[in-house]
Amino acid sequence: MSDTALRDDAGAPIEFIDLGAQRRRLGRRIDDAILRVVDHGKYIMGPEVAAIEKDLAGFCGVKHVLSCANGTDALGLALMAQSIEPGQAVLVPSFTFAATAEVVAWFDAVPIFVDVLEDTFNIEPASIEAGIATAKHLGLIPAGIIPVDLFGLPANYDEILAIAAAHRLWVICDAAQSFGACYKGCRVGTLGDITTTSFFPAKPLGCYGDGGAIFTDHDDAAAVLKSLRAHGQGSDKYDNVRIGMNARLDTIQAAVLSEKLAIFADEIEARNRIAARYGALLSDIVEVPNVPAASTSVWAQYTVRLAGRERDTIAAKLKASDIPTAVYYAKPLHQQTAYRAYPTAGNGLPVSDRLAAEVLSLPMHPYLDNPTQDRIVEAVREALQ
Ligand SMILES: Cc1ncc(COP(=O)(O)O)c(C=O)c1O
Repeated sequence: MSDTALRDDAGAPIEFIDLGAQRRRLGRRIDDAILRVVDHGKYIMGPEVAAIEKDLAGFCGVKHVLSCANGTDALGLALMAQSIEPGQAVLVPSFTFAATAEVVAWFDAVPIFVDVLEDTFNIEPASIEAGIATAKHLGLIPAGIIPVDLFGLPANYDEILAIAAAHRLWVICDAAQSFGACYKGCRVGTLGDITTTSFFPAKPLGCYGDGGAIFTDHDDAAAVLKSLRAHGQGSDKYDNVRIGMNARLDTIQAAVLSEKLAIFADEIEARNRIAARYGALLSDIVEVPNVPAASTSVWAQYTVRLAGRERDTIAAKLKASDIPTAVYYAKPLHQQTAYRAYPTAGNGLPVSDRLAAEVLSLPMHPYLDNPTQDRIVEAVREALQ
């Protein structure tokens, strides 16, 4: 049993994210896809890699997709394609996973931590403006913004892109959690200059190991990214024309992704049905997530807010009822040891601090059936009494 699995009354585990259920649904199709690669032997950049890139591009309606080794490398490659350099500042939300800011520091550029919105947990446009002022005050050159589509919900791109245009900044969308979601009728992948995602197994579209992808409509950026992904390779394989990385997606992971992409739209529908049901059953006692009218979410997490409550006590009660929960994120990045020295926008980041103390994520995956969800809801209601 994984550490995210606890037993329910009937002895069946309640998983926080039930990858086993998806595995059972895919069955032989996954086995066959993996074995095809094992048998043809093109383990690096085999035909499945080009095939998944084509299918991912078709899925979200973007011109170029470059698969890569993981979502962190995807961000790093995107920054390299934007010619990131020391002395530049990049605006990033503080309430996110470390990778969003980590990649900026890789290049001796400076992440400037920005606050998020109370209702969506996504980067706050006014705080971006404050962060740009902070950068200039520190003698740094604001170069770009990395909005994160937290928990599967796209950020507010209209406002973000307007600020970027006004200040001549690039926008790299960190869509590690949101591939498959939409903003104003457009799929994630098409919203900024470059979009990155992660295929970490627990992500809405995950593989069986590490994986990631980069999306762009710009031909030049795509050509540079392709070269960067393979050590800065030029048109002659042995003449490297820039400093790059080894960041390819394994062929076996591409084969796994192809099978999973085939059922992804159906899984997104299930995630939305389950999220709506959580909302209907819990909104009278707890603050449930808000999805703006023009957006859809892929519900990488279903995260409630427990303002004024003892979160640890509630989580402990749920654990005692065999309901797994998680806290994303207990510490915003500007409070974490490795990132404390980096600047913050304006006068502190009160929303990020507050959210870190209040959020609790409940089990969420496309295979959460009604009886199991009812049991979770009942336990949450009991724990809150
Ligand atoms: C917002 C965000 N950015 C980047 C990443 C990095 O992705 P990976 O783990 O594939 O490197 C993650 C993964 O959890 C993430 O949640």
